[in-house]
Amino acid sequence: MTETLWNRSVDHDTFRQALAVHAAGVVVITAQSEGVPAGLTATSFSSVSLEPPLVSFCVDRDSTTWPRLRAADHFAVNILTSDQAVLAARFASKGVDRFAEPTRWRPGPLGAPLLQDVSAHLVCLPHQTVDVGDHILVVGLVAEVSVRDRGLPLLYHRGRFGRFVAHP
Ligand SMILES: Cc1cc2nc3c(=O)[nH]c(=O)nc-3n(C[C@H](O)[C@H](O)[C@H](O)COP(=O)(O)O)c2cc1C
Repeated sequence: MTETLWNRSVDHDTFRQALAVHAAGVVVITAQSEGVPAGLTATSFSSVSLEPPLVSFCVDRDSTTWPRLRAADHFAVNILTSDQAVLAARFASKGVDRFAEPTRWRPGPLGAPLLQDVSAHLVCLPHQTVDVGDHILVVGLVAEVSVRDRGLPLLYHRGRFGRFVAHP
């Protein structure tokens, strides 16, 4: 029985469809490497541990941003609000300067760029990286947090950005 299960493999389209119906919050991971800001949009962000405070995200091995994030001594997680879909798309686009206007950001306490008007920033020190399939699991130790709670989160569901609606 177990052997039969393990021998099965899911085709890529079905796998993608299943993941697409899992709504996820959207963050932008940022860092400063050799004086140059770097960042990418991610939905793979997750909490990992309370004590010590750990969070994680997964990054594609083929990401051209990852080598610059990896080279930095810390990174920031910027948790986006529901009106920041354009910003999220920008940080997932190739061939643009993601930090140029109209992106609004400032250097954080340790140097990593902090995006303006987000719900929260988490400044993280690299804790562990694990090669997992075609991605790299990055675990960060949260060193500093600022919560602005500027309203609703930005969600991603079935390839579209959207808003959270609470039950009455
Ligand atoms: C909503 C959304 C979520 C994404 N989540 C991730 C993610 O968790 N990990 C990842 O590696 N790429 C993710 N991406 C893709 C990257 O943002 C984007 O492809 C990448 O930054 C561009 O490649 P580059 O790193 O070579 O610049 C996501 C893109 C979008 C639009």
